[in-house]
Amino acid sequence: VQSLRALAAKKGMLIGTAVGSNFYSNPDAKFKDTLQREFSMLVCENEMKFDALEPQQNSFNFSRPDQLLSYAQSNGMAMRGHTLVWHAQNPSWITNGNWTRDTLLAAMKNHISKVMAHYKGKIKEWDVANECIADNGSGLRGESIWRRVIGDDYLDYAFKYAREADPDALLFYNDYNIEDMGSAKADKAYAILSDMKSRGIPIDGVGFQSHFINGMSSSYLSNIDKNIKRYAAIGLKVSLTEVDIRIKLPADSSAYQTQANNYGDLMKICLSNPNCTTFVLWGFTDKHSWIPGTFSGYGDALIFDSNYNPKPAYNSLINAL
Ligand code: XIL
Repeated sequence: VQSLRALAAKKGMLIGTAVGSNFYSNPDAKFKDTLQREFSMLVCENEMKFDALEPQQNSFNFSRPDQLLSYAQSNGMAMRGHTLVWHAQNPSWITNGNWTRDTLLAAMKNHISKVMAHYKGKIKEWDVANECIADNGSGLRGESIWRRVIGDDYLDYAFKYAREADPDALLFYNDYNIEDMGSAKADKAYAILSDMKSRGIPIDGVGFQSHFINGMSSSYLSNIDKNIKRYAAIGLKVSLTEVDIRIKLPADSSAYQTQANNYGDLMKICLSNPNCTTFVLWGFTDKHSWIPGTFSGYGDALIFDSNYNPKPAYNSLINAL
């Protein structure tokens, strides 16, 4: 049967989606049918974040991610791990702890080591570090507890600990607004990551979150393509890790056609770059999406509507594949 996952497989690509909390509360049949039929990679929307996995120090809760992993395994799907070190969604014992550089580094190492050991050999790509770069591109994000307490080299340590924990996993740096080459943040990301790579820090790739606004111009899209090539030139993969394209509501049918064109163009860019083999959406149905709750006035960012009917964006991905 024709499906995103079947077509992607022929191109050597994984097509994925984030799966949110509704998965664990007996979702409607259409949710699981669509998930199983269309996708070959899954990522926990929240359940593998630090606060969910290690709510108390050194006491781990793997039950939901394990449930999703076994579902993935029985349906021939891969998993992405999201995310080990981030400034957000940390438990209060981290954010309110009385830390020194050494004790916080030890807590970070323990988290990375235990979590990656638990999923050793089972998770293909890990977002080792998430959103570490400041929005204005000045350097590493200042409000991160990791940066404040440990210093800039926390990022190097995160990747070193991750490689030690599972030498076979692909290790990614993941962020938003780093997709379009030429912007201050995108160029700072490249500078930081290429420096890490040249110093031998074990990093395999960059995750472009890809939370886009509908109506990307052709020059914006071509900068994404150039940026993927710039990372290829230094031996880094690029995964599109959280794709959604939000529409300003209410919208007419032309907005959905524009969205379809944007989705298709993005897929074509990924397909034309050998270092881009993972394309993950941040959800698949407009029924379950973080967009309306986060970007007021926007929605309908995904490829199936709220009733699981394919939108023009779905057909456009099929055609691109
Ligand atoms: C979002 C989830 O979708 C929401 O459910 C949660 O409330 C906040 O986090 N960048 C990331 C993701 O790396 O982890 C975020 O996920 C979306 C932005």
